[in-house]
Amino acid sequence: MKKILLSGVKPTGSAHIGNYFGAMKQFVDLQNTGNYDCFLFLADYHALNLIQDKEEMKKLTLELALDYLAIGLDPKKSILFKQSDISAHTELAWIFDTIVTIPYLERAHAFKDAQAKGKEINVGTFNYPVLMAADILLYETDVVPVGADQKQHVEYARDIALKFNHIFGNGGPTSVFKLPEPLILDHVAIVPGTDGRKMSKSYNNTIPLFASREEIEKAVMGIVTDSSGDVPTNVYAIHKLFKTEAELKPLYETNKGKYANLKKALIEDIDAFIKPMRERRAELAKDPKKVLKILEKGGTAAKKIADKKLEIVKEAIGVL
Ligand code: ADP
Ligand code: TRP
Repeated sequence: MKKILLSGVKPTGSAHIGNYFGAMKQFVDLQNTGNYDCFLFLADYHALNLIQDKEEMKKLTLELALDYLAIGLDPKKSILFKQSDISAHTELAWIFDTIVTIPYLERAHAFKDAQAKGKEINVGTFNYPVLMAADILLYETDVVPVGADQKQHVEYARDIALKFNHIFGNGGPTSVFKLPEPLILDHVAIVPGTDGRKMSKSYNNTIPLFASREEIEKAVMGIVTDSSGDVPTNVYAIHKLFKTEAELKPLYETNKGKYANLKKALIEDIDAFIKPMRERRAELAKDPKKVLKILEKGGTAAKKIADKKLEIVKEAIGVL
């Protein structure tokens, strides 16, 4: 029996190498082992908390679909779909809303961060982990590859599954929903950005995953270095993603303190890595209809599975 893998990314802007090494690369690597049934989706309803413009939403959705295909997700091997195509996600989220408490959601990091910024928080942001639990639990998911910042959300999905099973399941903690596990690789759990903080769209410290040569140069030249040591920490931390430490050792030894040379070498290594993916993406972008068709097909396949599970849930709560 194959294990079930599921993950999603929000279409909220250009994917960066933090997204790639932290999460998206694992989608492809695990897909290619042949040991998983893979469900990879575009979390457009989650993105709706941020993207509230019709054209922008359409554009970002297509872009993320291109990203998925360009990194090597293969519609013959994985089910690729759009969250909003499967109404079971939002329907199950409502059902979960009735058993999840407000204090429990108030403990979520993302909510607390938003609150700390003093922003007015919409209900969708508050409920974010509930929809994410529904995304995960509808597909009998075993593993959820994500970056470290999503760990708590996967734990919420487990908690919600346990609570549902306890209230509505007839026996056993996994009577209706299976308990998912996060899959977080230690060495890339938090990919640092050009300023040494976590790489994130919201910090403006990213290296875009499909960056042009010029964009790579600009981002690398902008990496913050302090002039106190032989090795520029932030440059090295990013370089380690592209080369092994054994490969980097001679380079950093012969260029002790020569930050400009090290940055040049990093530019070459990033460009060599990104170039084939960038070219594949440009090729795919020529036929957007084909890309949307892939999502449509994936949606049909995912819907069958999700609807079946939702029926079991509806039966368990007594509405069917
Ligand atoms: P961002 O923080 O840039 O808005 P997203 O929230 O869209 O990124 O994250 C998409 C996926 O990429 C998630 O699984 C997330 O954990 C992962 N991810 C994002 N930034 C990083 C990072 N700097 N290091 C490791 N993983 C990351
Ligand atoms: N919350 C995730 C992020 O910000 C995106 C996401 C939505 C997701 N639903 C999911 C990830 C289900 C894994 C599984 O990146």
